[in-house]
Amino acid sequence: MNDLEQAIEEAARLIRNARHVVALVGAGLSAESGVPTFRGPEGLWTKHGEPDLRDYDRFVEDPKRWWEQRRERASRLGELVQALESAVPNAGHFALRDLEEMGRLQHIITQNIDNLHQLAGSQAITEIHGNRTKLRCVLCNHRWPFEDFSLEELPPRCPDCTSGIVKSDTVMFGEPIPRDALDECINQSRRCDCMLLVGTSAVVYPAAQFPVDVKSSGGVLIEVNPNETPLTRLCDVVLRAPAGEALTAVVERLGSATQ
Ligand code: APR
Repeated sequence: MNDLEQAIEEAARLIRNARHVVALVGAGLSAESGVPTFRGPEGLWTKHGEPDLRDYDRFVEDPKRWWEQRRERASRLGELVQALESAVPNAGHFALRDLEEMGRLQHIITQNIDNLHQLAGSQAITEIHGNRTKLRCVLCNHRWPFEDFSLEELPPRCPDCTSGIVKSDTVMFGEPIPRDALDECINQSRRCDCMLLVGTSAVVYPAAQFPVDVKSSGGVLIEVNPNETPLTRLCDVVLRAPAGEALTAVVERLGSATQ
């Protein structure tokens, strides 16, 4: 057995012995769906620079102007927008769906805004950075599919709490994580005794804190990433391979063990 096969065997054993498995997912999972990652040599921020932290302040200062400039912003991130519009789930997304259906994965905390987990059929998902297909009221956190909301009047106002302003559900740089999503991430991390770190560089907080909390409360960590990350040193098992290949092999290993 080579190193990767041994690591897959060990990962399957840890998942089988765990009570509450959570996957923390990043852009690397959707890389095999053609969605660019953010960091690393080909990363969007490496190529175009990170969006500045004042984006959300600008929204708060003048939400009408922010909405009016929406199209101009989308054209600046044309590469990402196009990739997101044509992306479909890959083997990695389906493997996570299979683990959930096998009762071996209890929750997904995703940093991705691409809606690909839902398209793959996963159910228990918290989107810590929001979802590109939805709108959200910044006051009451009510969310709607984009197409269900009239954008005749700008800025759009929340029909439920009547005073909140509605924006895209995706969390901007400088914007606080919506309370309901953050609370569920903390709740899932507290219950978690085995966390899969799938395709994340683990440098963005608060998401990067969850694995540290799981480890410090006696849980185990499994990293699925072709490259090292700042959390590799904390991991019990490392699958140094693309997520599609590694997660599919873990599902097969767990599947064959039950037969
Ligand atoms: N399978 C698994 N991992 C992969 C693959 C693959 N096929 N391809 C690349 N990776 C890994 C890279 O090695 C890297 O560690 O995915 C990681 C992607 O890291 P980032 O681009 O930093 O993405 P992420 O961790 O999701 O970023 C977090 O930062 O910019 C914000 O809001 C954005 O949600 C994002 C957050």
